Amino acid sequence: MTRSSAASQGPMAEAGTGAVHAGMSVSRVDGRAKVTGEARYAAEYPAADLCHGVVVNSTIAKGRITGIDVREAMAIPGVLLVITHENRPKMRSFGIFYKDMTAPAGAPFRPLYDDRIVCSGQPVALVVAETFELARHAAALVQVSYAAEPHETNLLAHMNRAHVPSRLKAGYSPPPAEKGNAAAAFADAPVKIEAAYYSGVEHHNPMELFASTVIRGDDGHLTIYDKTQSSLNSRWYVSQVFGIAQRKITVRNPYVGGAFGSGLRPQYQLTLAVMASLMLKRSARVVLTRPQMFTFGHRPETVQRMQLAAERDGTLRAIVHEAVAETSRFEDYVEVVVNWSGQLYACDNIRMGYVLVALDHYSPIDMRAPGAAHGVHALEVAMDELAHALDMDPLALRQKNYAVRNPMDDLPYSTKELLACYRQGAERFGWDRRPVAPRSMREGHELIGWGMATGTWDAMQMTARAGAVLHADGTLVVSSAASDIGTGTYTVMAMIAAEAMGLPLERVSFRLGDSALPFAPIEGGSSHVTTVGSAVQGVCEKLQRRLFRLARALPASPFRAARFDQVCFAGGAMQLRGASDVGVALVDLLAAAGKGRIEAKHLMLPNVLNQKKYLRATHSAVFCEVRVDEDLGTVRVTRVVSAIAAGRIISAKTAHSQVVGGVVWGISQALHEETHADHRFGRFMNHDLSEYHVAVNADIHDIDVIFVEEDDRVVSRLGAKGVGEIGIVGVSAAIANAIFHATGRRVRSTPMTPDKVMRS
Ligand code: MOS
Repeated sequence: MTRSSAASQGPMAEAGTGAVHAGMSVSRVDGRAKVTGEARYAAEYPAADLCHGVVVNSTIAKGRITGIDVREAMAIPGVLLVITHENRPKMRSFGIFYKDMTAPAGAPFRPLYDDRIVCSGQPVALVVAETFELARHAAALVQVSYAAEPHETNLLAHMNRAHVPSRLKAGYSPPPAEKGNAAAAFADAPVKIEAAYYSGVEHHNPMELFASTVIRGDDGHLTIYDKTQSSLNSRWYVSQVFGIAQRKITVRNPYVGGAFGSGLRPQYQLTLAVMASLMLKRSARVVLTRPQMFTFGHRPETVQRMQLAAERDGTLRAIVHEAVAETSRFEDYVEVVVNWSGQLYACDNIRMGYVLVALDHYSPIDMRAPGAAHGVHALEVAMDELAHALDMDPLALRQKNYAVRNPMDDLPYSTKELLACYRQGAERFGWDRRPVAPRSMREGHELIGWGMATGTWDAMQMTARAGAVLHADGTLVVSSAASDIGTGTYTVMAMIAAEAMGLPLERVSFRLGDSALPFAPIEGGSSHVTTVGSAVQGVCEKLQRRLFRLARALPASPFRAARFDQVCFAGGAMQLRGASDVGVALVDLLAAAGKGRIEAKHLMLPNVLNQKKYLRATHSAVFCEVRVDEDLGTVRVTRVVSAIAAGRIISAKTAHSQVVGGVVWGISQALHEETHADHRFGRFMNHDLSEYHVAVNADIHDIDVIFVEEDDRVVSRLGAKGVGEIGIVGVSAAIANAIFHATGRRVRSTPMTPDKVMRS
């Protein structure tokens, strides 16, 4: 049950054979392939000589392997090999070779490298057999003995070991230095709140399991189908780790069944599948099980402390936001948890801090809106607590402290239509009918509450290349080594190209998911539209210029005296602007010029010098209604309005789906998701989908998405800012605030399960 409105973004009609334009609502161009099963995922590629590997995982969290007995496993007919640290193929030793394109500071985990155990669930062996079933059976027969050492996996018990993270990670922005004097301002202010917030470990749980199929060519070339957010990253990693030239490796990921950040780094099944292929000189596949999906990377357990102070009229005087998060022993995984607290509200005194505690877990990894999902949660719940202390409407408090320039460095925002989000969201939701006092609304045994929160996420642009080929039959193929992790990349890139070239969508296809294609960055940070989309736009413009030169050179060309800016591309033709009867069909042009095809390549470099003059971010206002069963503490989120300002929306339908998906996940984060460790074993226990709860259809009610009008030519030439992650930010805070409004109980720990709702 979701609705959308994008009235300001143009007509919502489905694209037929007509002109494509930004803001149009188009069904996924790969939708049919996906629902018919024609779309293949990493574990679905066949090979005549394929063998199957099943991973054996460590049962201890720290220590050394003292012995691995593989005799029973190897005795089974059809079992080909058990790979361990003792017989693995040659691999690089230095940590630097294991650094993928998004590795944080530190020395990455090296699968099957030596006898050292760094976390529970670490792979210790790969059993390879003729069939998956044989390998799975034999894997259960491998006997591993360990010398265990004491482990520490309990963040709350080791907060005293916190350290300031290493700054070596590219792209890590430590919190800026204090502005003003937050402690003094807090002490002096008449109204203040202080609270601590806790969020447990979460795992991504994409539908598709992590898998790699390595197909070995006769010449030894490795074609690898990998579940990843970047084919180029996986190729780079395999090349570095095994010392194989990149030209001898092709990585493909044409379809990815969700990843949400878990595929930003190559995972260990890739390394192990390559090992099997190298050792047996065969094609090999390794697929992880759902429990094994809990053995690498997670959203880190985080404890946050907030102090907010204000004048009696609501003017903010101090913001203090400090976070303690976990990392592994071997890497400083960092996310921007607290920095947004310096970007959202005008305030003269702001202090932020971020520290890490190294635990004997695998390194955490980015998960949809990393840092913001929890950091903005704490800020926005604290703002609600302050509004209550002020006896003020929570929306009015946010509007009162609206920041026109970035509070920390006084830079202007590239665009910031957050006031429109507040206004349109509140109106759609009916916020003005909200009673200020908690426990004011009830229906039967359910208490009803309304809550709201602000959301924000970075608007990024990176570097990308794109290629384009216009064929003699009038079809256009555009390509870049981008990924579509379910976000709609195929669709939106085809739309951008179709609009630029004036072609119907059916004549345009976009190729992605192949390391042989022009460079694209990792799909992450909601930046593929601004980055790859701008490269696509750029390559189409180059193609236009080539076509224009061809057209001018034709005998008796109507364009002989024209300049490039006097032509346009529409209806499959090049036309003189303002004279649609003067033109030439692109197919006729290629035929007349005797060309079978015409192509272009483009390198898109962001205008960094200009971008640095602005704070670039997307914004949202989230309003929600909850119904809390007073006797049972169960919470239903019955209504959500999410008003988003994310620049120009290029593909209305897939953008809408992204935001709905984000809201669903926000509900899940708020009410259900947490991975529990048994610290006696240092192991995550609820490692399957019956024990790790994600929101299901019964949890989801009315979700209404509004895209407010915004056009940001600083972030991208398309005016777009990206929408993958903004949808989740603020949702859990709005729910926490609605629970308070319903019950008068403040829950400061997520997920807000019935026990916490009853106890608070
Ligand atoms: Mo996203 S967490 O940058 O894949």
